[in-house]
Amino acid sequence: MNTYATVILAAGKGTRMRSKLPKVLHPLAGLPLLAHVLNAIDAIPSALSFISQDIAVSTQKPVVVLGHEAKQIEAAFGEQCLYTLQEEQLGTGHAVLAAQATVDALYPLPQIVLVCYGDTPLISNSMLASVLHEHITQHATITFLTATTEQPSDFGRVVRDSQGRVREIVEMKRATPEQKRIQEVNSGVYCFDRAWLWETLRTLPRNASGEYYLTDLIGIAGVQERVITTVNGTLDETIGINDRVQLAEAEQLLRRRILERHMYAGVTIVDPATTYIDDTVSIGMDTVLLPGTMLTGKTTIGSDCRIGPRTTIDASTIGERCIIRESVLEETTLEENVHIGPFSHCRSGAYLAHNVRMGNFGEVKNSYIGAETDVHHFSYLGDATVGEHTNIAAGTITSNFDGKQKHRTIIGAGAFIGCDTILVAPVTVGDYAYTGAGAVVTRDVPPHALVVGVPAHVLRIMQSSEASNIESDKKE
Ligand code: UD1
Ligand code: CA
Repeated sequence: MNTYATVILAAGKGTRMRSKLPKVLHPLAGLPLLAHVLNAIDAIPSALSFISQDIAVSTQKPVVVLGHEAKQIEAAFGEQCLYTLQEEQLGTGHAVLAAQATVDALYPLPQIVLVCYGDTPLISNSMLASVLHEHITQHATITFLTATTEQPSDFGRVVRDSQGRVREIVEMKRATPEQKRIQEVNSGVYCFDRAWLWETLRTLPRNASGEYYLTDLIGIAGVQERVITTVNGTLDETIGINDRVQLAEAEQLLRRRILERHMYAGVTIVDPATTYIDDTVSIGMDTVLLPGTMLTGKTTIGSDCRIGPRTTIDASTIGERCIIRESVLEETTLEENVHIGPFSHCRSGAYLAHNVRMGNFGEVKNSYIGAETDVHHFSYLGDATVGEHTNIAAGTITSNFDGKQKHRTIIGAGAFIGCDTILVAPVTVGDYAYTGAGAVVTRDVPPHALVVGVPAHVLRIMQSSEASNIESDKKE
């Protein structure tokens, strides 16, 4: 059994981000940078078993090295990781050493230390697994991930000798003009032999900029004639986020990856250029996303839906066969076959049961709308419970806030709420009741009653045959 510990460096200030928020908490496709790295690490064993059946690994919680804003990062990730503090940020080599005690306390004691950086969020589990696999099979002292690019920008350059053997990694700042032209760069993922790592880190010299560079270990191993191997990955996976330009580049790359994942899984995306989907979203087969659709947060969309154009859905659950046009939904649940829009807004706590039709310019907040109910035009339903087969006509408003408190409105099943009805909460409208146009309902309405006026009063109690006429009128 091969054992490895994972160390993630996230103590740096992230100065180049120019932000109050710690760099690794900046969101990328809906998740903080560090969460992407953690997800990839979590999924290493499955990728490794795909590469080789012979290599078994034991997994332990990754050790995250924190410094700046440590408390905030710890609060965001909780028990998902172990944490260690690098009091002073004296470089990536110094940071790894800060993790030694925590790594050495792991059980079983790891032989390999996998190091990655918290600011390389596009790294995949398969790339990490390849580095680990190479390291194990080559019995290497160091294995690290490289990428080849015509624009090596601020990456460390990989210096090889005439036989192609790695000699050292030279950081951009210290590279000679000739070295600056090297197109193979260090991606910042390493496997180290644990004993060698701890021993050698202690001997690392402090460089001219006052830092201990992890990358200097490669030069030392080279001089010692140790086995150094590399895995060549793609720059798309190893982009490091140092500033917001790189953050936007990573967002674009990841967004494309997410869109492709959904398209391969059977989702039609009419215009990928204007469709934004967070990494946290799932979508059923044969759903069509029209241009301008933005799906964010923990959102689940059923199959056979049609979403958009120009629709935003955040942290919501959408059932099968729903149609949502030009609308905004937040923390909303739709059962199947609900039609919304154009131009409607479902806010936190909206629950629309199956076959609800919600039309133009409606707003629903913290409300349950029963199955088959229609809310077609210009309505506001806040803190309401509406039964099945009810019709909410144009301009209906729940007056749910008295200036101090919110109150509930309850509307029964099979009711007919006439145009421009104002329901002054708390108030209950019984099953099969009927309000006349312009009614201002301040008192409870009994079942089957017809109320009219301001304030609304009972005109008469309708026969159930009348009520069912209303029901059949509505359906026409
Ligand atoms: C680093 C590498 C470079 C590589 C690039 C890949 C070094 C010296 N250079 O450069 O070769 O091409 O990543 O993306 O390693 N950190 C700490 N404590 C510190 C310093 C940094 O935890 O004292 C953390 C940072 O928070 C960051 C990571 O280490 O997550 C990398 O540091 P950063 O300053 O971004 O290094 P780069 O200049 O990108
Ligand atoms: Ca970096």
